[in-house]
Amino acid sequence: MSEGDQHAALTYTSYLALDEVLGAQRPRSAEHDELLFIVIHQVYELWFKQLLHELAFLQRRLEDGDTPHAVRTLRRILTILKVVVAQIDVLETMTPSQFASFRARLDAASGFQSGQFRELEAVLGRREAAVAEHYPEGSEARERIAAAMARPSLFDSFLTYLRAHGYDAPARPDVTVSVEPSREVQATLLRVYRDDSGPASVCEHLVDLDEGVQEWRYRHVKMVERTIGDKPGTGGSSGAAYLRTTLSAPVFPDLWAVRSEL
Ligand code: HEM
Repeated sequence: MSEGDQHAALTYTSYLALDEVLGAQRPRSAEHDELLFIVIHQVYELWFKQLLHELAFLQRRLEDGDTPHAVRTLRRILTILKVVVAQIDVLETMTPSQFASFRARLDAASGFQSGQFRELEAVLGRREAAVAEHYPEGSEARERIAAAMARPSLFDSFLTYLRAHGYDAPARPDVTVSVEPSREVQATLLRVYRDDSGPASVCEHLVDLDEGVQEWRYRHVKMVERTIGDKPGTGGSSGAAYLRTTLSAPVFPDLWAVRSEL
């Protein structure tokens, strides 16, 4: 018996688990547009998974003080962010009445409940225990969000990176609390920008990342406004009014604060 008889040969379909992936779209209505809605959310979740993977890698590279690999990883993250922002265009081809045709079938389901999105926010520095508590006790989402909030955020890894490059950037005494703007950190950042070498380029890429996240929030709220107007969200919030409160909160406040002094 040859080896090929014992183990099914790897194929495109089996390697990519396409039976599972392509079997995972289960519309709840017969409406034409529901498939697009499902596919786009699933694609988002796949990109969120990849972003989390890249961000974990980025944190390790920063903690090693490795500028070339940190910058390369940041470029990949930024390119993915551009793709996820651009994808909103596809969903905006769906009119309010097309969405309304199946919206009631979503019950209380909403992007609001995306565990990976909350984990991304936590990796980027969001620290609010209540966020994890929205997920059932013992669930993977709850554990992953809580774990991300308990370990150093991307900004903490960046401070470690600055120290590795000889800058005075003390570690935050408690990484489980949100990053607060700090005059001390800002003074260090001004020195970094004046030196204008590798660390300054990392700073600029982090600002791009911050702006990219804000851009996604802005495009998402505009899509929501044009698709459901002022109707409340399926996730139980006030909808666009709630989403507007999340706009323009910076991920890295110190990197924005120094800009008027540069
Ligand atoms: C027709 C399309 C969409 C509409 C009408 C819509 C609507 C909403 C609304 C109203 C909220 C506020 C929470 C609530 O439901 O009460 C929300 C939150 C959210 N949505 Fe969407 N959404 C759409 C598409 C998407 C897509 C494609 C994604 C990609 C994953 C997404 C991800 C999110 C996330 C992550 C939140 C939480 C934001 C936060 O709390 O900061 N949404 N969405």
